[in-house]
Amino acid sequence: MKDILQELEDRRNVARMGGGERRVAAQHAKGKLTARERIELLLDEGSFEEFDMFVAHRCTDFGMEKDRPAGDGVVTGWGTVNGRMVYVFSQDFTVFGGSLSETHAQKICKIMDMALQNGAPVIGMNDSGGARIQEGVASLAGYAEVFQRNIMASGVVPQISLIMGPCAGGAVYSPAMTDFIFMVKDSSYMFVTGPDVVKTVTNEVVTAEELGGAVTHTKKSSVADGAYENDVEALAETRRLIDFLPLSNREKAPTRPFFDDPARIEESLDTLIPDNPNQPYDMKELILKLADEGDFFEIQRDYAGNIITGFIRIEGQSVGVVANQPMVLAGCLDIDSSRKAARFVRFCDAFEIPILTLVDVPGFLPGTSQEYGGVIKHGAKLLFAYGEATVPKVTVITRKAYGGAYDVMASKHLRGDFNYAWPTAEIAVMGAKGATEIIYRGRTAEEIAERTKEYEDRFANPFVAAEKGFVDEVIMPHSTRRRVARAFASLRSKKLTNPWKKHDNIPL
Ligand code: HXC
Repeated sequence: MKDILQELEDRRNVARMGGGERRVAAQHAKGKLTARERIELLLDEGSFEEFDMFVAHRCTDFGMEKDRPAGDGVVTGWGTVNGRMVYVFSQDFTVFGGSLSETHAQKICKIMDMALQNGAPVIGMNDSGGARIQEGVASLAGYAEVFQRNIMASGVVPQISLIMGPCAGGAVYSPAMTDFIFMVKDSSYMFVTGPDVVKTVTNEVVTAEELGGAVTHTKKSSVADGAYENDVEALAETRRLIDFLPLSNREKAPTRPFFDDPARIEESLDTLIPDNPNQPYDMKELILKLADEGDFFEIQRDYAGNIITGFIRIEGQSVGVVANQPMVLAGCLDIDSSRKAARFVRFCDAFEIPILTLVDVPGFLPGTSQEYGGVIKHGAKLLFAYGEATVPKVTVITRKAYGGAYDVMASKHLRGDFNYAWPTAEIAVMGAKGATEIIYRGRTAEEIAERTKEYEDRFANPFVAAEKGFVDEVIMPHSTRRRVARAFASLRSKKLTNPWKKHDNIPL
């Protein structure tokens, strides 16, 4: 009996060694943790339960039958993050470069099926040379099995991808279909075709980092939602994000203990809006002042800075925030910001996370590049996302809410539940000068100036909208946290459903 127990322990030890000391040292030398070290940091101490530790590949080509390491290049299982269950897979670059074989894919599929059945997030740590070259089409089939499960799980359980090494070829499409992608700076990259193929086909010379590194994907392409300095930071931030999310669409997001008075008065907000309407201010200041303990988890911080997206808590409950940022492009909506915010709104709605919208938007960004780039279709994404969302929606207009952008930003007409405005709000079809220049075309400059003043006095305020009931209440800036907290509290048992359909046809 003792021998058998010892044999199990020996086999486990061999499996835990992965590709052996030399390759582990090489992994560490690149500043990367191993697959198991990553799992240990991500999960609560001692909570990891492993599946399929002894699974080995079945390939018999290229002499592969002589090299069948236990685990086949991926560590899978489940554990907890602050006591809440999550499923994980972590590719082991020390075993065949973390490449994906038929059996490697089956291990990932097994935990994805369990996550879907049991209602818990899937967190994938990707570090892989792509398809296992020796296995050919069996590996491609494995990828597609994973893709199909990503699609089925979308909107049912949160899926988070950490890119912690190479991720190339079709392999990028599994992360692409998950909810959030986090990358590690300088040690991870994602691309469909690598620098060599790019050089052959387009004659462009580009490094892997330039083509698909963390900076590229968080600043230029918006493929990734966050870039972190190293593995440890990426894992710690993932834990922080999970605390904001429900385990599945069958549950609500967790309520966390809070020590911040929901009725906290913030006198400084009364002077947040500058006297000059063309002067910017930092909308993040408002977000931080509304949040419990000033805790804000920003999504896509480095992309389309004219809109801010991320999670806060109010009275311990998760809230998704979407806010125009007057510091960037005067807070205009454009292609990039519409896409960014639309995807975020849809995530919140899929997982029953209430949405707080903070509005200071002078309109859509004009220009040929916007029109040629399809701002009509992209802007419609955000409009569509807000309009279909059935979660509690609370909106606060701090300053400008002009034109179509007023409608888009969770207005009353898109089933906003509470639409508040500060006394500094200006809600109108367009800015006063532009409006008078159209209405009084051909008049003298003095007359236009006079009419502009008249228009401002009449429309550059929240009261015309309030008279019509489009704004529910004009509130004091200093009491915004209390008003918003009470609004969300009153909406906790909100029930709203859309008409039955197979699915909608959002303008993609
Ligand atoms: C089998 C692989 C492998 C692969 C790496 N290895 N990639 N084994 N299949 N795809 C093995 C190497 O043989 C080596 O084994 C070990 O992993 C580490 O690889 P190195 O090359 O030494 O590491 P490094 O210098 O860091 O380079 C990493 C790399 C490079 C950039 C990922 O290995 C690479 O270019 N690999 C091939 C990538 C690729 O073309 N994959 C197929 C893409 S097509 P030893 O025994 O020496 O440690 C694809 C289609 C997916 O993925 C489609 C889905 C729809």
